[in-house]
Amino acid sequence: MLSVLVEAGMLATLIYCIILKLIYYICIFSYYNANISHAPLNVVQQLDTHPQKKNQEVIIIVVSTDGSGNFTTIQAAIDSIPFRNKQPVEINIKEGFYREKILIPKTKNHITMIGITDNDETVIAWNSTASDVMYGGQKLQTINSATVAVEADYFIARNITFMNTAQAPRPGAVGGQAVALRISGDKAAFYGCRFLGHQDTLYDHRGRHFFKNCYIEGTVDFVFGNGRSFYEDVELHSDPNYGIPGSITAQKRDEMTIETGFVFVRCKIRGAGMVYLGRAWGNDSRVVFANTFMDKIVMPKGWDDWHIPASDKTVYYAQFNCTGEGASTMGRVEWARELTPEEAAPFITTKFINGESWLEKLPISSTWPSPLIP
Ligand SMILES: *[C@@H]1O[C@H](CO)[C@@H](O)[C@H](O)[C@H]1NC(C)=O
Ligand SMILES: *[C@@H]1O[C@H](CO)[C@@H](O)[C@H](O)[C@H]1NC(C)=O
Ligand SMILES: *[C@@H]1O[C@H](CO)[C@@H](O)[C@H](O)[C@H]1NC(C)=O
Ligand SMILES: *[C@@H]1O[C@H](CO)[C@@H](O)[C@H](O)[C@H]1NC(C)=O
Ligand SMILES: *[C@@H]1O[C@H](CO)[C@@H](O)[C@H](O)[C@H]1NC(C)=O
Repeated sequence: MLSVLVEAGMLATLIYCIILKLIYYICIFSYYNANISHAPLNVVQQLDTHPQKKNQEVIIIVVSTDGSGNFTTIQAAIDSIPFRNKQPVEINIKEGFYREKILIPKTKNHITMIGITDNDETVIAWNSTASDVMYGGQKLQTINSATVAVEADYFIARNITFMNTAQAPRPGAVGGQAVALRISGDKAAFYGCRFLGHQDTLYDHRGRHFFKNCYIEGTVDFVFGNGRSFYEDVELHSDPNYGIPGSITAQKRDEMTIETGFVFVRCKIRGAGMVYLGRAWGNDSRVVFANTFMDKIVMPKGWDDWHIPASDKTVYYAQFNCTGEGASTMGRVEWARELTPEEAAPFITTKFINGESWLEKLPISSTWPSPLIP
């Protein structure tokens, strides 16, 4: 009798425990759901309306090499910002040469970096390459070669020169990719910035990005990645590549339904190295040049399929209303497009990057002049 009672009691306790455990798991699960997996959405909605919150305090941090600011290095300034940052932070970086390798992690949204320049530039430079060996023997790879890597959303940069000073790789050399800036966050804008390097200068990795009055220099694939980006009034400067034609872009879209692609409007292509407008890193690679000046350094064929003829049918490589000797479509590959105004319409405004939902609300002016453009 007693043992039956004890067993019943134990069973009740057991059931009680199971119920408690279940409640615990349900709570944990919904906590994670609310705070982790759905967090990016909430944060995005909040941030999209944020710039209109007039009285939101902006945290200002000053970085200066001479010790007159809050920090002497940019990374120290970034490290001082709390994780899951929700407040706009403006890092004012006084002119000078910052030899640093910088990471802005995913959890630090809403950082603006401004070069405060008087006579000189604010330069951030490092010299990693893809083949550098890390502690432990592994290769760094292209993605980790960036001088500045931005993984956060709502990043803005103004008046800053991003540079990778590694030597230009010789033809056939492996692992010479050396990124100056990698942008992997969504909704980023760059005004009056310069990007200097050789192979793989600007890693436009993923997300929607806006570049205005910038200058980008390199040899091979110097604007590459799977971003969905709008470049306006940007100078693309092609350097000589040991006599072998380089390529401005290597856009990586590999599915027709993905909305990524690079659009260049009112840009200028100049320099001294023969270049293709793009080569197909992804088989649905998408690049459009509109109202752009192309100097004679552009290869008459225009585009390269990177030895995969099947891509000829799937890439979207187009130009619209371009000028200059290099813009002639006479010698172009058969699969290059010349757009009609109707076909060009979806590409030639910042609607291409949904600008109306975020770009126009950023706390900056799109008319900022830039003294850095020659
Ligand atoms: C930066 O330094 C100024 C002046 O010393 C100080 O008022 C401000 O609180 C500092 N800001 C930060 C974020 O440390
Ligand atoms: C980077 O710079 C350091 C120091 O100047 C030098 O020792 C190193 O060889 C350079 N690496 C590359 C890949 O240029
Ligand atoms: C860059 O700095 C110069 C000189 O201080 C200023 O005139 C210009 O407006 C700045 N450009 C941007 C994009 O902030
Ligand atoms: C395009 O590339 C993707 C990723 O490499 C691959 O899965 C897909 O099959 C390719 N499509 C074609 C048509 O080759
Ligand atoms: C074509 O380009 C010229 C400048 O080269 C510009 O004035 C004109 O507005 C452009 N046309 C269209 C339809 O954008």
